[in-house]
Amino acid sequence: MQVMVIGGGGREHTIIQKLKENPKISKLYALPGNGGIAADAECVPIAAKDVEGAVAFAKQNDIDFAVVAPDDPLVLGMVDRLEAAGIPCFGPNSKAAIIEGSKVFSKNLMKKYNIPTAAYETFTDMDDAIAYLQTASIPTVIKADGLALGKGVIIAQTRQEAMEAVRSMMQDKVFGDSGSRIVIEEFLTGPEVSVLTFTDGKTLIPMVSSMDHKRALDGDMGLNTGGMGTIAPNPYYTAEIAEECMTKIFLPTIQAMQKEGRPFKGCLYFGLMLTEKGPKVIEYNCRFGDPETQVVLPLLETDLFEIMLAVAEERLSDIDISFSNGAACCVVMASDGYPKSYESGFEIHVDPDFSGLMFVAGAKMENGKLRTAGGRVLGITMTAETLEQAIEKAYVQVKKVSFDNAFYRKDIGQRALKAKEACI
Ligand code: AMP
Ligand code: GLY
Repeated sequence: MQVMVIGGGGREHTIIQKLKENPKISKLYALPGNGGIAADAECVPIAAKDVEGAVAFAKQNDIDFAVVAPDDPLVLGMVDRLEAAGIPCFGPNSKAAIIEGSKVFSKNLMKKYNIPTAAYETFTDMDDAIAYLQTASIPTVIKADGLALGKGVIIAQTRQEAMEAVRSMMQDKVFGDSGSRIVIEEFLTGPEVSVLTFTDGKTLIPMVSSMDHKRALDGDMGLNTGGMGTIAPNPYYTAEIAEECMTKIFLPTIQAMQKEGRPFKGCLYFGLMLTEKGPKVIEYNCRFGDPETQVVLPLLETDLFEIMLAVAEERLSDIDISFSNGAACCVVMASDGYPKSYESGFEIHVDPDFSGLMFVAGAKMENGKLRTAGGRVLGITMTAETLEQAIEKAYVQVKKVSFDNAFYRKDIGQRALKAKEACI
């Protein structure tokens, strides 16, 4: 079978490396892929958001199956268009991808179906939002309705900051149309957990839980980034909490989507906060998380492509999915200065005895040399029996990869280890 994967980051590289394990796949394409992915799939220069380009490519090249990994093409309806052209896909159609594409939609869904989440109000008028903020409790959280490259959430520590955030979104349009509607919600506290799930719209199977590290610097300091590293499983996510999430959050969500005539097929990502009043949904994503995928899929023991086919064919209940009992740690190596400005074009050196998993995000191949070409350059993952070992092994491998201006957090997983100690 010929399979194409849409996207060109570390998440897509992980998916591609996993798909390669299936002998039924004779050819793998990545649209657009990147210089590192090129080692595992044929990269085609079609942008991830280019819906018509992807459909034309799929038809011309006899593609049998498509995996649409990033949020933008999903929300834009790439799956709808590919399926209309007779190409089965892993990923939700646009009616279901709205669960990530509109925060107003997802908040209203949760309210309607009693799914625990932060209390909120939605606004389309700036003056109403500003008036509401006069008495809202502080800190408060301002969210642009639409996709905003992961930057559409502002935690305002003061009333002034909250009002500035509202003006920047609704008046200055810093996120374009994504900010013409906003959500203002209650600030919650507690450990965060990411749970990716496979669902065919009827059955839902959670993957191993994980923990992202969003801040740029050690000790969770510095600016928010796309994610500087991950570990799995997340020690805060006990079996008891998992059961509570299944009954109060996961199943009610897929049932709600069904009732709304928007059955969700693909990977549904639950961003959860474990508050004193129980687990609550912080966000839904309509896709695999990045860099969560880089620790979750290496622990998957069942064949990924067979799962994806089962999801597409709505027979997920027929297959058993298992994960290793071990742990994984992914350390992201970035260009110094990320998430602000940074230089790129530096050659990436890998020691001959490197033995980790490498998932490339921002790199290009030039005259046979792999060079940096982005803020987050690559992720290095190691699995082991325990989290402590996985962390130690990942950092050993990180030292075997180098490029000028490389920077990475030295404390990925430390928060999780402390949580583990506290539980024992
Ligand atoms: P998001 O872009 O929706 O993933 O949000 C980014 C981050 O903002 C989340 O990972 C949380 O750390 C934080 N966040 C979002 N909503 C809330 C909330 N209601 N209370 C506290 N923190 C939040
Ligand atoms: N790591 C968070 C996300 O993929 O949205």
